[in-house]
Amino acid sequence: MIQSKNIDFYYSDFHALKGISMEMEAHTVTAFIGPSGCGKSTFLRLFNRMNDLIPGTRLTGECIVDGRDIYARGVNVDELRKQVGMVFQKPNPFPKSIFENVAYGLRVNGVGDRKFIEQRVEESLAGAALWNEVKDKLKKSAFELSGGQQQRLCIARALAVKPSVLLMDEPASALDPISTSKIEELIHELKKDYTIVIVTHNMQQAARVSDKTGFFMLGDLVEFSDTKKMFLNPDKEQTQNYITGRFG
Ligand SMILES: Nc1ncnc2c1ncn2[C@@H]1O[C@H](COP(=O)(O)OP(=O)(O)OP(=O)(O)O)[C@@H](O)[C@H]1O
Ligand SMILES: [Mg+2]
Repeated sequence: MIQSKNIDFYYSDFHALKGISMEMEAHTVTAFIGPSGCGKSTFLRLFNRMNDLIPGTRLTGECIVDGRDIYARGVNVDELRKQVGMVFQKPNPFPKSIFENVAYGLRVNGVGDRKFIEQRVEESLAGAALWNEVKDKLKKSAFELSGGQQQRLCIARALAVKPSVLLMDEPASALDPISTSKIEELIHELKKDYTIVIVTHNMQQAARVSDKTGFFMLGDLVEFSDTKKMFLNPDKEQTQNYITGRFG
């Protein structure tokens, strides 16, 4: 489903990712862990070309989504971002109503059919486990929601354009334990329909939600394996040291 082949990435002359090759299967959850600054977000952002927005960056290698190199000439980046949705660390709803936040992606894509939009908004909110909490206040501002609800709203907004891949960069790090466990349950539900990649600093969270885990350090992918193996019996000493809290 998603694959990177020998990716090197530079911010000007800073070498942020070093020869990263990785394969992520459809309908699985992959977690990225590693110390701050090791390149997790940079790597994640490659898959919907969010790094394109940063001047002075350079990429070599291949990034493949659904069998095609997304950096090849002629790729439509707007289409790509519909297919590969993203949720950020801090909930970032638009200053609009709950309804309009979720409808946004449809509207900018030229969808005008009201019934269709209403149905998709409901579906997406239900998919993000938020519908019951907001169905009676869809016209209220998104800012009236709690942080955890705002984050689920952002997930609903991402789902509304029917992506196949969902990239999540520390989606629960700003949330309380109850909201966090809601997001984790949600991730578990969503993987039936989506391929999910999540960055997390929370080792228990990686162990709970992911099928595979990649451990990064200083731009290298040190180890990539089944999550169970990674946490019980990693191949590398560096991995062992990190997951047992000896550094990082
Ligand atoms: N826009 C940028 N311009 C220049 N360097 C950057 C930029 N963004 C990140 N970097 C550098 O690239 C490296 C990787 O950063 P990245 O944000 O990918 O790390 P991370 O693993 O996500 O860290 P954290 O866990 O703190 O979020 C860091 O050394 C960082 O300073
Ligand atoms: Mg990061």
